[in-house]
Amino acid sequence: MEELIGIKKRTAIFISGNGSNMKNLIKYSKKKYSLINVDLVISSNKKSNAIRYLKKNKIDFKIFDFKQKNKDERKIFNILKKREIQLICLAGFMKILSKSFIKRFNGKILNIHPSLLPKYKGLNTHERAILNKEKFSGCTVHFVNSKLDSGKIIIQKKVKINKKDNPKSLSKKILKQEHLLYPKALKEILSRT
Ligand code: GRF
Repeated sequence: MEELIGIKKRTAIFISGNGSNMKNLIKYSKKKYSLINVDLVISSNKKSNAIRYLKKNKIDFKIFDFKQKNKDERKIFNILKKREIQLICLAGFMKILSKSFIKRFNGKILNIHPSLLPKYKGLNTHERAILNKEKFSGCTVHFVNSKLDSGKIIIQKKVKINKKDNPKSLSKKILKQEHLLYPKALKEILSRT
């Protein structure tokens, strides 16, 4: 982890969906005091809305559909090495990285998950939290290890579930908090001395 401490880290963001967390991290990275520089975005989805944003903002991106996972991971690994990427932020990335890929970047991959881990790992977190009549849900930023959504937790934010909430409204509320939490998590791990 000590290797993460220092000036702006060369960072890659991995996405699959809308990329709102990605946009938020890019905005954060442009602030003078931020601790990351977004050098590259990897998208598993060529139709992601985020692509237009990346083009407009002149941020380098590559698309890999992960249909040939081993081959794609090898290519991604080589690109990341060539660009001396020091940190990987998964942000709505829906593919599961192989153990060997994770091992190669051990302690340098972060993920954001829309639940209060260890509760509700995996998909459909909001549906399950509401179905179980939870009073709170939230979001978690954690290190990625070889088990799904199980790496060391860095930071969490609780969000109240109201009686009127449905998965969509809860997802919206939590996403808003995710945008605050990811930069906070980066500050937390990158400014430790
Ligand atoms: C977020 O809720 C993230 O936690 C989850 O998928 C959603 C992605 O949103 N894994 P976005 O693509 O960052 O807008």
